[in-house]
Formats: sequence, C-alpha cells, structure tokens
Amino acid sequence: MQNSPLCFFVAFSEKKPFLNPGRTALEGKSLNILFVGDIMGKPGRWALSQLLPGLKKKYAVDFAIVNIENAAGGYGCTPQIAQKIKSYGADLQTSGNHIWDRKEIFPYMETDPNFLRPANHPPGTPGFGARVKPLITGQKVAVLNLEGRVYMRDLEDPFRYADREVEELKKETPVIIVDFHAEATSEKQAMGWYLDGKVTAVIGTHTHVQSADEQILPGGTAFITDVGMTGPHKGVIGINAQDALARFLTQLPHRFTVATEDIKLCAVVVSVDEQTGKASKIERLKIDFKPEGQTFEDGE
Ligand code: FE2
Repeated sequence: MQNSPLCFFVAFSEKKPFLNPGRTALEGKSLNILFVGDIMGKPGRWALSQLLPGLKKKYAVDFAIVNIENAAGGYGCTPQIAQKIKSYGADLQTSGNHIWDRKEIFPYMETDPNFLRPANHPPGTPGFGARVKPLITGQKVAVLNLEGRVYMRDLEDPFRYADREVEELKKETPVIIVDFHAEATSEKQAMGWYLDGKVTAVIGTHTHVQSADEQILPGGTAFITDVGMTGPHKGVIGINAQDALARFLTQLPHRFTVATEDIKLCAVVVSVDEQTGKASKIERLKIDFKPEGQTFEDGE
C-alpha cells in the first residue's frame, strides 16, 4: 500500500467543494459530468478555452474532466499548460502514454491534486492515478485513469488494477469515472463490460477518432469506445498529413507537427444518479470551432 497511488489520493483528498455556476446543494439528484477528449496542441487548447465555459453552462455541468496528454504540441503537457487548462474551467485533467514526453511535468504531477496519469504503472512512478473530489451537492466524484496494453506498453494488468482501485474508491463515493486510455477497440469494449455495474462511466481516449457507440450498459455504466480528439481534424489524428505520410512511406524518423485546420471539440456529457452512481444518459458531442483570426503556426 505504501507505493500504491491510492495512498496518494487519500493524502490529497480535498475539503473545498467545486462551485460550478448554476448549481446548488438543494437541486435534484442527477449530476452532469463533462468529459472532453484529448486536447491536441495549441488549436485544441484554444478551442477548449473558448468553448468550455459555454458548455458547462449549457449542460449544467457539475464536474469537467479534460484529457491533456497531447496538449503541448502533441507531446505531453507542461506545468504552464496544465495551469492554463485549469484556468479555462477544467476541474480535473487526465492523461495517457504521451504524458512522459515532457520531463518538466514529472514534479508537477506530485503537487497538483487535479492532475492524473494512468494508475497501472509500476510502484515509484511519479504522480497519481486516481482522485476523489467533493462537489457542492455534497457528493463526491472519483476519477480513475488507466492505460491499455494491446499495442501499447506492458504495464500492469488494467483489469485487475481496476478491481483494486474501484474497491477503494467505492468506500468514498459511488460516482466513479474511468478514463481508459487504450489503442484497441476490443480492449476498451472489454473494459466497459468488465466494469459495468461497478463504475459510472468508462470513457475511452487515445485514438483521437470519435466512435459512435455511446451507450448505457445493462448494469448502468455509461460507455464510449473513444470520446475523440479536441483539435485539428484535417490531418492524421491531429498531425499534418504530410508529416505522417513521410514516416509511413520512408520508415525514417520524421518530426510531427500539429495540423491547424478543421478544429473540433469532442466530448461526452454523462448524467448520473448521485445516490447510486448509475448513469442514466450519455450524450456525445462533436462541435465545430472557428478560430476567427487566431493562427497556430507559432510554437506548441
Ligand atoms: Fe495516447
């Protein structure tokens, strides 16, 4: 237990509730949780900054989660960018395999209680894999970040790891959101069925292509194979097409640059009974964003 990420989230459990606009403790028992898919570079960050406040208001969002693993030029995240995304209205940030691309984020992970990396890493890995956050309603939301193993690194078994984490998180709240950062659709769908009835939602990230299979599984768990990417869609998963083609056609190293056109924000809104933790609805969002004069060629 000494090296488990769980001991870290307990130590950093916060007392101060979130005060999202338009919400009081006396309102109904349904929580709305927004999950925004992978932020890709400066275009993705700009779209988030402009759209997130309106989305939180429109959907009466109680808690907003944003995956930021590609937020810094497509490769990881820096402390400065994490702070900016927090200032846009993200209550908690999740990540994935690319979070290790920027070493400056390592110490930051240890200090920001609203920043996660996949939990199923070996003992001693910097950062935290799960958090429990209090809401103004009096309820708490737990977020668990896991990474798949099919066509990815050989981490600890995310299924068995989920068992242990969910058991601990359930002691604090029935509302548990899982960001499953994985490549294979089969592994993601398997995780949805594995955790059905045990958690509120299993939301896939990493592939950057939004799937149209959002559903409530029989046990009351909201599921989508991949929530999609927030950033430029005219390219190859957010990268300029010519950069991606150069690597595929030559098999030589080639620096990738973030594309700039056809920017969209991809997300889901999950409605959940705060007493049972069961989801009643999952709504998929794919919103076109026009940057109106903002350019993205200058830096990450
Ligand atoms: Fe990823």
